[in-house]
Amino acid sequence: MEKLNLVSGMRSTGKLHLGHYMGVITNWVQLQEDYNCFYFVADWHALTTKYDKTENLKQDKLDVVLDWLASGIDPNKSTIYYQSKVLQIAELHVLLSMITPNNWVERDPTLKDMVKILKNKDEGASENMPQLNYGLLGYPVLMSADIMALNGAIVPVGVDQLAHLEITRDIARRFNNIYKTELFNEPKPKLTQIPLLQGVDGQKMGKSFNNDIKISDDEATTAKKVMQCITDRSRARKDDPGHPDKCEVAFKYYQAFAPSEVVCQVECECKAGARGCADCKRQLGAIINEKFAPIRAKRIEYQNDMDKVKDIINEGNKRAAAEAEKVMTQVRDAVNI
Ligand code: TRP
Ligand code: SF4
Repeated sequence: MEKLNLVSGMRSTGKLHLGHYMGVITNWVQLQEDYNCFYFVADWHALTTKYDKTENLKQDKLDVVLDWLASGIDPNKSTIYYQSKVLQIAELHVLLSMITPNNWVERDPTLKDMVKILKNKDEGASENMPQLNYGLLGYPVLMSADIMALNGAIVPVGVDQLAHLEITRDIARRFNNIYKTELFNEPKPKLTQIPLLQGVDGQKMGKSFNNDIKISDDEATTAKKVMQCITDRSRARKDDPGHPDKCEVAFKYYQAFAPSEVVCQVECECKAGARGCADCKRQLGAIINEKFAPIRAKRIEYQNDMDKVKDIINEGNKRAAAEAEKVMTQVRDAVNI
């Protein structure tokens, strides 16, 4: 049986962090075995909010791809590409925008959250005048075009993206109805089971919060950042009994990165007051460094051979565009354009 097409993208935010690795990339790596995977850097989507901050865009896109390659996204198994190099996506976006009712996008809760965040950042913006550009309003429509241009059947995403994907399913169904075709399937989300990894301060991990550990951070930086992890705040001295369940970040990282025997040992020693938090985090830093050592080495290898990386991306761009062209031939036909 032929493998189904799977499509997923990440905005070009630059170097990725351990939250991306645990929550998204490990999942993508596994999915490569069972699906025909299309993984792309959503650089147009980046412009929906950062249209005026493009000075690092080219490097940010390369950094995302470097992190993917280092983490095991295999260009021989998956197609890796830039959204903006597949012009069929833009063409489909125009056609889909014609059939998408405004209120479908206006009530998208994920989009509302994005607008709220933007508003908070821009203190000059008035309450009644959110900074909602036409392009940002079209975010879910563009995302639908990303998926539908490759007639993706499966879309691995986080829960925050489900609202967008619901719109994609509605748009696919509406297209089929209007143009009396069965061309598009309704893409299914594939949720990641792994809970989101927090930042060292216990908040959501993110570049802009300055609480993230990057895949590409070196050992000393990683060790230093791990020492900032919040522990059990109720613990005053290192021989006080600790509460791993109240250890806000450090113990959660152990659960994410350490083998289960180590997690058990840490838990027992902490409860017994036989382990100080500083020592505990030093050990945690070493565990994380050991886990990422081969990934970082591979990243440096690719970094030293950027021609090869650019070839991989060019090749992926071509492959994705060829696949999208097959779909678009049928779309143009259905629309009679
Ligand atoms: N909106 C997604 C995010 O922020 C990125 C994205 C863009 C995407 N287009 C997509 C994900 C298509 C899956 C499929 O994470
Ligand atoms: Fe957390 Fe370790 Fe401190 Fe226990 S000893 S509170 S697990 S950092």
